[in-house]
Amino acid sequence: MSAGPEEIARAVAQLREGRLVAFPTETVYGLGALATDERAVGRVFAMKGRPPGNPLIVHVSGEEMARTLTPRWTERASRLANAFWPGPLTIVVERGQRVPSVVSGGGPTVAVRCPAHPLTLALIEMVGEGIVGPSANRSGFLSPTSAAHVEDEFREEIERGDLMVLDGGACRAGIESTVVSVVGESPEVLRPGVIGASEVARALGCDVRERRGSDDPAAGPMASPGRMESHYAPRTRAVLLPREQIGRAIEESGVPIALVAIAGPGRPRVHTHIEMPGDAIGYASSLYRALREADASGVELIIIERPPTGGTDAEIWAAIHDRLARATAPRV
Ligand code: TXA
Ligand code: MG
Repeated sequence: MSAGPEEIARAVAQLREGRLVAFPTETVYGLGALATDERAVGRVFAMKGRPPGNPLIVHVSGEEMARTLTPRWTERASRLANAFWPGPLTIVVERGQRVPSVVSGGGPTVAVRCPAHPLTLALIEMVGEGIVGPSANRSGFLSPTSAAHVEDEFREEIERGDLMVLDGGACRAGIESTVVSVVGESPEVLRPGVIGASEVARALGCDVRERRGSDDPAAGPMASPGRMESHYAPRTRAVLLPREQIGRAIEESGVPIALVAIAGPGRPRVHTHIEMPGDAIGYASSLYRALREADASGVELIIIERPPTGGTDAEIWAAIHDRLARATAPRV
């Protein structure tokens, strides 16, 4: 059930008291606090178990509010906001004085995004300022794409009244926003998402760099924590295999398995079988729900069939592959 005006009013009160509210967006649920409330922002880091050097996204109701968070809302930032907001694009700009340094993990920049979800836009408008929101999950694990996922993740905190969940239904996009920095000389995609680098380049009218690979968490302040190798991961060990290797892997494993695969001929003999949509948008929107279901099914191994690459949705598949690589990476 989707929340109504009364719950939004309750969420506003909760935020003003310095407590946390999990809010829906079109990508994943966020763990919200008022961006100007340093202590509440501290509670967000604590509740997630997030290292303090990992900066948070500030969610705004539009470009006008974004301008209040930076001394330089550049032409490029403005073009991106016009092209993609409200929507799954986060823009990294210089951090202004109104944004406490804890929000940015001590760094000189701030990430801003206007989410495409009517409930959350209403919440931000009513509270009148930006809301920080990392994904509402324990650090390193799967992002939540429904209110029930958030409740599973933070049951005790909710019971204690430290966290309220605003239910806005299932998330449409399903994987986290594309993060683009417009601070340096040339714009750079720091985290891939459903909006591809080529669309960003088209909106900007210039080349856009794409950062690949992972940041080493031991290497000091992180450019983008979502780029750490093991991240977005289920608790159960997960592996990524091409379709032709799956039958053999199942036979040889000797443990209960959950298989996450695009529907194919035949029924694999596994404990749990989760069928994925074959199109990129459908796949992205189902991915975290599928991995949570696999994780909860009591198996010892999750086998994920390697999805396609290339084609007209090549950039969405690339963002999906980015998350799958992290979901199946060895734990540090
Ligand atoms: O779709 C999303 O972006 C969701 C919803 C709730 O908006 N939020 C989300 O937040 O995924 P989180 O904290 O799980 O991931 C935020 C990512 C980090 O991994 C990092 O890559 C980047 O945003 N980020 C945040 N602030 C940054 C900054 N100042 N500079 C560079 N990257 C930053
Ligand atoms: Mg996250």
